Amino acid sequence: QSDEANQILEAYQWLSKLYHHLLYHSKDGKDGLKYLKERGFTDQTIEKFQLGFSPHAKEFIAEFLEKKGYHRQTMVKAGLLAVNDRDEYYDRFQGRIIFPIRNHIGKCIGFGGRTITHQEPKYLNSAESSLFQKGKLFYNFDLARSSIRKEGVAVLFEGYADVIAAYQADVSNGIATLGTSLTDTQARLLRRYVDTVLLCYDGDDAGLEATYKASQLLMKYGCNVKIAALPYGLDPDDFIKDYGADKFKNDVIEAGKTYMAFMIDYFKKDFKLHQEGDRIQYIERVMDEIAKLEKPIEREYYMNELVNEYNISMEVLTEELKSRMRTNN
Ligand code: GTP
Ligand code: MN
Ligand code: MN
Ligand code: MN
Ligand code: MN
Repeated sequence: QSDEANQILEAYQWLSKLYHHLLYHSKDGKDGLKYLKERGFTDQTIEKFQLGFSPHAKEFIAEFLEKKGYHRQTMVKAGLLAVNDRDEYYDRFQGRIIFPIRNHIGKCIGFGGRTITHQEPKYLNSAESSLFQKGKLFYNFDLARSSIRKEGVAVLFEGYADVIAAYQADVSNGIATLGTSLTDTQARLLRRYVDTVLLCYDGDDAGLEATYKASQLLMKYGCNVKIAALPYGLDPDDFIKDYGADKFKNDVIEAGKTYMAFMIDYFKKDFKLHQEGDRIQYIERVMDEIAKLEKPIEREYYMNELVNEYNISMEVLTEELKSRMRTNN
């Protein structure tokens, strides 16, 4: 690694420390702290995740980093500062709660900043750089890694807040993508650590769609996928706030369904099952998925469900399966 790369990495550590300090020890930080407390995050959790705040103070961050010996141009290049046409070097995160994003060895390499005053966008991320590549890492992977290994399961969330709320609810194997859909690189990385990924995305249309897509990708890399579904309209963090930690652990995380059990329900939304034509299409759709399953026992299990629920014979389904498996291979 070059000197400059090391310098930049070091600057990120300083800035992360400063933001965290300012959450507790600045006038603006008080609003941030109040916001976090109202969301239910404790001091201990704030400490653990080193949450911070960026105050409204134009060149404060630039001056701080400069005093530490970093040049303004280097910091702009590193995405730590922005510069405007009046040559002011300013922090894009001003007025936002800071979620430091750490790499797999716990070094801060970027930030997520959330508005506390309904600004757009709701979240702002550090710019992509050779150091910070959203599609190649997971939020909280460094802290979650040992529980992930121990339990053989990683719980994948959509948001930082979900990871942190889950952690507070004693679910310590939670990680999240950084506001983008799961990439091939991330799926491959995860497969190196676990057999099973439990998807726990938001309970809304976007979350369901993302669940489907992430499942396909994870299965492509040989992961066993399970799905923890939430009531419509709630994300994991909302659920924990509304129903408590125990219910989250028992009724959401522990009650995670298999991929197929979840999909059999999920596909129903596209069909009017009281109409015969739609019912047939639905069964065909489910058969497409069953044909992708690796284990014969799983295929038979779900075909049996169709036999029982839709009064269709096993012989016909077996024919359907055979033709699909011929085309799949
Ligand atoms: P809270 O409102 O703080 O509870 O956030 P959330 O995690 O529930 O947010 P949401 O479900 O809307 O989005 C999930 C994740 O997507 C967030 O944690 C962010 O990483 C990312 N995200 C959300 N909104 C934006 C945005 O406006 N811009 C960018 N770049 N990322 C976003
Ligand atoms: Mn502290
Ligand atoms: Mn969402
Ligand atoms: Mn959400
Ligand atoms: Mn949320």
